[in-house]
Amino acid sequence: MNSVNDLANLFPRLSDVPAETRITPLHQRETLVGGEMRRIDRGCKTALSAIQLRQEDGTLAPFEVGSYPLGGVNEARDALEAAVHAYDSGRGRWPTMPVAGRISCVEHFVRLMVARREEVVRLIMWEIGKARPDAEKEFDRTVEYISATVEALKELDNGNSKFHVVEGTIAQIRRSPLGVVLCMGPYNYPLNETFTTLIPALIMGNTIVLKPPKFGALLFYPLLFAFQKAFPPGVVNTIYGRGEEVVPYLMASGDINVLALIGSSRVADSLKKQHPKSNRLRAVLGLDAKNPAIVLPDADIDTAVRECVAGSLSFNGQRCTALKLIFVHRSIADTFVSRFSRAVQDLKCGMPWEKGVQITPLPDQQKPRYLDECVAQAVSLGACVVNPGGGDSAGTLFRPAVVYPVTDEMKLYHEEQFGPVVPIVPFDDVSEPLEYIIRSPYGQQVSLFGNDAEQIGALTDQLVNQVCRVNLNCQCQRGPDVFPFAGRKDSAEGTLSVSDALRSFSIRSMVATRKSSSDKTLLNAIVDGRRSNFIATGFLL
Ligand code: G3H
Repeated sequence: MNSVNDLANLFPRLSDVPAETRITPLHQRETLVGGEMRRIDRGCKTALSAIQLRQEDGTLAPFEVGSYPLGGVNEARDALEAAVHAYDSGRGRWPTMPVAGRISCVEHFVRLMVARREEVVRLIMWEIGKARPDAEKEFDRTVEYISATVEALKELDNGNSKFHVVEGTIAQIRRSPLGVVLCMGPYNYPLNETFTTLIPALIMGNTIVLKPPKFGALLFYPLLFAFQKAFPPGVVNTIYGRGEEVVPYLMASGDINVLALIGSSRVADSLKKQHPKSNRLRAVLGLDAKNPAIVLPDADIDTAVRECVAGSLSFNGQRCTALKLIFVHRSIADTFVSRFSRAVQDLKCGMPWEKGVQITPLPDQQKPRYLDECVAQAVSLGACVVNPGGGDSAGTLFRPAVVYPVTDEMKLYHEEQFGPVVPIVPFDDVSEPLEYIIRSPYGQQVSLFGNDAEQIGALTDQLVNQVCRVNLNCQCQRGPDVFPFAGRKDSAEGTLSVSDALRSFSIRSMVATRKSSSDKTLLNAIVDGRRSNFIATGFLL
């Protein structure tokens, strides 16, 4: 049996799927608009699972994990109007609610969300093929992120619960919402990355139009009921539909105040241009990246191999933070490549529910063809796939390919492959990877492997001005979530972390008066009589 057949045999027949993992296809026909679950009969989109099913004759067939409504411009308009109405130019119930009230709604939401954990985790596995432990981690990390956000907001708000007296002026400064936020997350972390913008935007008093990603849309459905119960009508609204149809419409309306997008720089560029009042639009963006690793001659090879395997192939390389190009000093390249390739061979390919599985089916059915093309082009220009069976594919399962030596003529040197292909480039002088980073359109992170304090120190000083995180002897990653997550050039706009996100979705606003006795009396009367949510000195515990 050749290895392609082996791969095909890793897909289950329907009857092979373990009972605790089975899923009943979910045919969603409603979206949440203005506090109502509204039925959309206009049309629907079939959601194909990343996981294909093996038929009696051994062929693979797509599995429909469900379908969801295909909204158009009318549905987009309804969702937008509901969000605009709930914000009511900043006078709505939600943007004027005391912070404690908004926190209690979010806490209510979390309780309802946690009750749907298993449903959401199963949908993550079936829609995007994420291994169960990673799908569970995505859910739990999101819940922890929300709790951390609540704590960070309390700290922020308590810090602002006081008056400043400067040069005869008394002032109170707080953070206020910006308006309507259009939230769009990516398919690789559909829940987590969407919520890392949606939750801070919400808790700061903005209203939301949420458009789920193209793969991983159904997993939001159980949560729509939680949004509906926990928040006032119109605070969270959803739109499902073709992005290229509904999103430009939303942007061109001029009613979107913040574009929160984790996606491609090409889409972000074009959407920003559609907004008629560019100065009224704030963008919070997480975009493309091609984070390199640089393995220096004195690097600990075991550490470098372990971290580069995890960094390049966790969730099949489908992470914005993944290591997408590995530069290795020529003096250790052969050793590194052979150990790396052995470690890649040990990764278990299979279905998301299998114990210890690391390589799983890809949600984008077109991806294997693109990855094939990249590998074939590199091979035609002199590179080799060094791991046996690397690059074999069956259906949506693609065995990781370690491609070496990669040069700047190859697509794999420049394009963000976002999949299980690892290009390795030998270098003689560290100026070569440095030059690559300087010329790259991206600037998210880098991983540096080595032990010479003088060299690492000097390189770090150069690299921190090229990217936003230099990882020493470890892979690139976003977490811990309290750390800033940002990028230069086409990799990001704005900074996300638990506390930075609260700032990204708000603006400082202040009230000021002269330090006269009548104005002091006025302020005291407002505070003592609890006449304002803004002019207040109460603490949140
Ligand atoms: O896709 C990009 C994610 O933010 C990466 O997060 O580094 O924790 O996997 P991670």
